[in-house]
Amino acid sequence: MTSPTRILTRGLAVFKKHKPRILLDLGCGVGSETPILAASLGARIVAVDHDAAALAAAPPNPNIFYVRADATQLPFGESTIDACYSFGLLQELGQNGDAPLRLLTRELDRVLEKSGVAILGTIANFRSTSSAYRSLTGAEVSKVLRGHMVLQELIGLMDIDINGQQTRYWYISATPTKHTE
Ligand SMILES: C[S@@+](CC[C@H](N)C(=O)[O-])C[C@H]1O[C@@H](n2cnc3c(N)ncnc32)[C@H](O)[C@@H]1O
Repeated sequence: MTSPTRILTRGLAVFKKHKPRILLDLGCGVGSETPILAASLGARIVAVDHDAAALAAAPPNPNIFYVRADATQLPFGESTIDACYSFGLLQELGQNGDAPLRLLTRELDRVLEKSGVAILGTIANFRSTSSAYRSLTGAEVSKVLRGHMVLQELIGLMDIDINGQQTRYWYISATPTKHTE
């Protein structure tokens, strides 16, 4: 198991206050961070990705349930998830405009329980036009959250070396709108 990134460390601190029993790792990829979530929180982790090959490469773990699904159409009932961690998904989903991102935030609002929380991390190379992924500004994030999720905190920024290139990420916490009702 690799050591947690700064984003994950801060995310774990937020999650520990919420004491989730079921946590969604959305866009889990090959599960590089999923076992850390399971071990640190003692929660059951539902790890979702639409890429079957990535899921097949993910490490088996009795507390992790890997599910192949589209993040914009989650196969879970209303208010069935206590918390969500999602790192690196928004930058891929947002490549085709805001519509898939709006579907994602709507799904988070639906599946998270009232006091649930989501930690979302994504690329923030605002000046870069060369990235294969979409970099979202704060204004764009506010727009895709609006009416579905409430932004609680811009937690921080983190630089990661990806294939020799420094890539900047930001990460936020957000809660479902039903939290405020
Ligand atoms: C940059 S990777 C991050 C993987 C993992 N969270 C990590 O940090 O190692 C983004 C992941 O989102 C997944 N993804 C992209 N669009 C998706 C969608 N619509 N539904 C589910 N997963 C999706 C990709 O297959 C990929 O595994």
